[in-house]
Amino acid sequence: MTSAIVVGSGIAGLLTALHAVEHGCRVTLVTKDVLEHANTRFAQGGIAGVMFDDDRADDHVRDTLVAGSGLNDPDAVRVLVHEGPERIRELIALGVAFDRDDAGGFVKGLEAAHSYPRILHAGGDATGTAIEKALVARLRASDVAVVEHAFLVDLLLTDGRVTGVELIVGETDAAAGRRESLEADAVVLATGGAGELYAHSTNPEVATGDGIAAAIRAGAAVADLEFFQFHPTVLAVGDSFLVSEAVRGEGAALIDEHGRRFAFDAHPDGELAPRDVVARAIARQMEAQGGRPVQLDATRIHSEDAEERAAFLARRFPTIDRAVRERGLDWAREPIPVTPAAHYLMGGVSTDLFGRTTLPGLYAVGEVARTGVHGANRLASNSLLEGAVFGARAGDVIAEDAASGSWPTSASPASPAPEQRSPVTKRGSARQIATGERANPGEVPAFSRAALQDLLWDDAALVRDDAGLGHAASVIAGWRAQERTRDSEHDFEDENLLLVAEHLVAAALARRESVGAHFRSDDTAESAETPRSRDAIALHAAPA
Ligand code: SIN
Repeated sequence: MTSAIVVGSGIAGLLTALHAVEHGCRVTLVTKDVLEHANTRFAQGGIAGVMFDDDRADDHVRDTLVAGSGLNDPDAVRVLVHEGPERIRELIALGVAFDRDDAGGFVKGLEAAHSYPRILHAGGDATGTAIEKALVARLRASDVAVVEHAFLVDLLLTDGRVTGVELIVGETDAAAGRRESLEADAVVLATGGAGELYAHSTNPEVATGDGIAAAIRAGAAVADLEFFQFHPTVLAVGDSFLVSEAVRGEGAALIDEHGRRFAFDAHPDGELAPRDVVARAIARQMEAQGGRPVQLDATRIHSEDAEERAAFLARRFPTIDRAVRERGLDWAREPIPVTPAAHYLMGGVSTDLFGRTTLPGLYAVGEVARTGVHGANRLASNSLLEGAVFGARAGDVIAEDAASGSWPTSASPASPAPEQRSPVTKRGSARQIATGERANPGEVPAFSRAALQDLLWDDAALVRDDAGLGHAASVIAGWRAQERTRDSEHDFEDENLLLVAEHLVAAALARRESVGAHFRSDDTAESAETPRSRDAIALHAAPA
């Protein structure tokens, strides 16, 4: 019997495990917290899919390619779109109750850069929670063995093949936690992204890039790490809290300090332009108004009557409504302050269309993977869909792959690897950094997670340039060269974040042109910030 270890418990990991068990695998799912604490549960907007008669798969394909600036893998996008509806029906069969209207049909949700309102949601804005709950319940009733509070230290390799995982189980203090090695025919990384890289993020604290870092250390190819998506609208009061794009889909507008709608300056679709365009428009506007947040105006949604509007907002967006009110704001009657924050990593461990990485025995699914579906900027609500489609695909082939004894991967090759850099302490010119001007290693600022997050926020976030990226690369190289103790899970996470940061910055330095979420202010080409045309991208999207 084929054995498989799935690491991670979001939508991708849970569906991989459930499908692999169906195909006769003996599956152990390990997760660093409890099963329910994956990033999936924070997904608000919903899941995109061609579920209505008057929608067309070709349009979903095209929207995905336009949002991704055409850097997507068109085959992967077609798989995503064409298999998406079947996976959504599977979720429904597993107990996910997507919201329905009075006539019993699914409520249609619109989000940015979709040409059709094809987003299904559950509990208003609690889609991720509804999916996570249903899948966890099904997993607990299945034959999948579960190990919670198990931190992935590294992948085990035998003769170039991944044969298991090394874990710390039980305690977050590594000295007290049990070191365990688990062996299996296949290991599936479903460890999510790395939102903890940035000072401002929508992600939970578990998103520390553990799977990507372990894959890099084991020698798997990673790609597209320069493409980190920043969500345009996060509440700028209290802890970072996502205000779903679906709010703009319902008609909320972005306004500056003088009440002017500014998003149309950047793109003819205004607030519903691709997410990277809107996030940068907000960042620019904030800069123009001294760093103060812009406002999201929901007072124009639904009704002229504030009471009716308040009732609608509470019904349609119960989670956001609670968060807004907890912060003392009344969004039915006044605009609320918002700002961009790190949200989603488009790149990751390179895979083929079945989650196979470049290392035999190793699969990657969900945000940790670079399947090629997102290109340079993910289309809203395609992430749950990707997790479902490619998680199921990986789960379906693991047993067959193990029986075949071969490893038929076509995962894309790696992005450029980091160069060795001498540490520098202050921002130098690109030329200084490129020539590796030596600085006193003692001058590297003290390492802390917060210092790393501030560094990436300052030098490798929404707007980048050679000097800033070079500075970040040098500081990271200095930190990587330092000896540090690894006494706790937190310490291991820090090393993982540093390694992912090193690769992200190297990829960002190597890509000199602006594209999608990777915007370089030192790219002076006229095309750097021109709206993407659906017609132009359609060329890449010809049906298979
Ligand atoms: C949102 O609800 O705006 C986030 C959905 C997504 O990231 O796809």
